[in-house]
Amino acid sequence: MIETGGKSQIPEGLTLQGEAFAKLNLSLDILGRREDGYHDLCMVMHSVTLADQVTLKQTGETGVRVETNLHFLPNDEKNLAARAAAAYGEATGRGAEGLRIQIQKQIPVCAGMAGGSSDAAAVLRLLNRQNPTPLSVTELAKVGEKVGSDVPYCVLGGTALAEGRGERLTPLPPLPPCWFVLCKPPFPISTPELFGRVNCHKLRCRPDTEGLLRALEDGDLEGIARRMYNVFEDVLPPRQAAAIQRIKTSLIGSGALGAVMSGSGPTVFGLFEAEEAAQKALGNLKREYKDVFLVKSAPLV
Ligand code: C5P
Repeated sequence: MIETGGKSQIPEGLTLQGEAFAKLNLSLDILGRREDGYHDLCMVMHSVTLADQVTLKQTGETGVRVETNLHFLPNDEKNLAARAAAAYGEATGRGAEGLRIQIQKQIPVCAGMAGGSSDAAAVLRLLNRQNPTPLSVTELAKVGEKVGSDVPYCVLGGTALAEGRGERLTPLPPLPPCWFVLCKPPFPISTPELFGRVNCHKLRCRPDTEGLLRALEDGDLEGIARRMYNVFEDVLPPRQAAAIQRIKTSLIGSGALGAVMSGSGPTVFGLFEAEEAAQKALGNLKREYKDVFLVKSAPLV
């Protein structure tokens, strides 16, 4: 049973609802390995409208429980959403006893889009909304840091530079109007394993993060697309690298301004200026893959 942080302050019967948006990496650079076993990263993150629905219900029951539409997801403390509720209780004294967290998953699981972290961030935001003396966004992100490396960014949302373990955040300008086509091929990639394959001193190429930040400042969509880059793509096992490349080629062939793998994959996305080209890319990929989505930039949370 998860540590609930004590008695809940939310009235019984109350229901809270919110969206948890998927994140994409416009860039991902790994700067080095740290003493604590994690890596120092430099990433430009962006939230898109593909979203899970998160509902919190206060019941008279014991513990914290998570219910989802995917039977294989954990419903106990292994689920980041439950850990987030407990961490919020610990930080504020407003415990999570009796909380039911219902998650309607749309974001593919283990896909490089921070679905679990985004669910956890949505729980933090919803609990904070009920707090008469709410934590600031910075404080809430700090609570998220204890739950997972991507949670602080998911608390903030929008476009942001994430550095350190992922917790040092700088908000960035939004993207100009555009479309994203997302495609998750049907094989898993283990994040720790992929980190294990990286030798920071031997990376062939790195993203031009400075140039990407300038392109974002200038609202230059082509400049942004040209600089999208993920160092993980260079260390993928050959078969996975080939599968990722095939999707990128399909997206570019349909008119994407750029295409890149998100996070530790395997989701690949293409950035499009015109909806027509994005629709064409969607149609082409749907013939071969199940998890394909056409989305836009998410509104700020
Ligand atoms: O923090 P989180 O549990 O999301 O990280 C998952 C795994 O990814 C870690 O166990 C670690 O292997 C790796 N990781 C890392 N450096 C980071 C973030 C994650 O090595 N900055």
